[in-house]
Amino acid sequence: MQTLLDTLPKGISVLDVPFGTGRFVPYYRERDYQISGLDASGHMVDAARKALGDEAFYDCFVCIGDAAKLRYPDGAFDLLVSTRFLRDIVTFGPAKQMLKEMARVTRRWAIIQLGEAAEGGEMPNDDETMAGRMSRQMVDDLLMAHGFRPIERRLVATGEDGNRIHHILCERLPN
Ligand SMILES: C[S@@+](CC[C@H](N)C(=O)[O-])C[C@H]1O[C@@H](n2cnc3c(N)ncnc32)[C@H](O)[C@@H]1O
Repeated sequence: MQTLLDTLPKGISVLDVPFGTGRFVPYYRERDYQISGLDASGHMVDAARKALGDEAFYDCFVCIGDAAKLRYPDGAFDLLVSTRFLRDIVTFGPAKQMLKEMARVTRRWAIIQLGEAAEGGEMPNDDETMAGRMSRQMVDDLLMAHGFRPIERRLVATGEDGNRIHHILCERLPN
């Protein structure tokens, strides 16, 4: 994450969905970002406040809400970050709706965590998680179809089955 953030300007606005415990907040603050976060769980937002401490937490605008229906205007943020979510927490049908919403509120970049198959690839059904089913080409096509052009990847983990998980830095394509 840090090496991808280092390719972007300082002082930009970021929306982190889902925010979870806000684990990237220290990196955002080091880079003078204006930080917003959204998570479905109030308990998780409480956990974020405890984990970050009041000073860092209250430096962020954190909302409770659903990633499928973001209550922000179009193009509200320079950067959208979404990790440990679209690949494995939600199924493919909602994940596509969430990608659409993420693209709507982003004007410049996104860093999205997704998986890819070691070999071959298949499209998930809407009621399955994406997990590591798709080939890299399928992942890239999915991102492009939602207005995100992948420009750099960082490997986060490789599973025993050889499937890989990446943080993918994307450029927002013009509408
Ligand atoms: C594994 S955590 C990831 C948190 C953070 N992105 C990270 O990488 O540490 C998954 C988070 O998704 C949140 N979540 C689940 N469904 C959601 C939804 N529909 N909209 C927003 N957040 C959701 C959960 O409350 C939880 O905090």
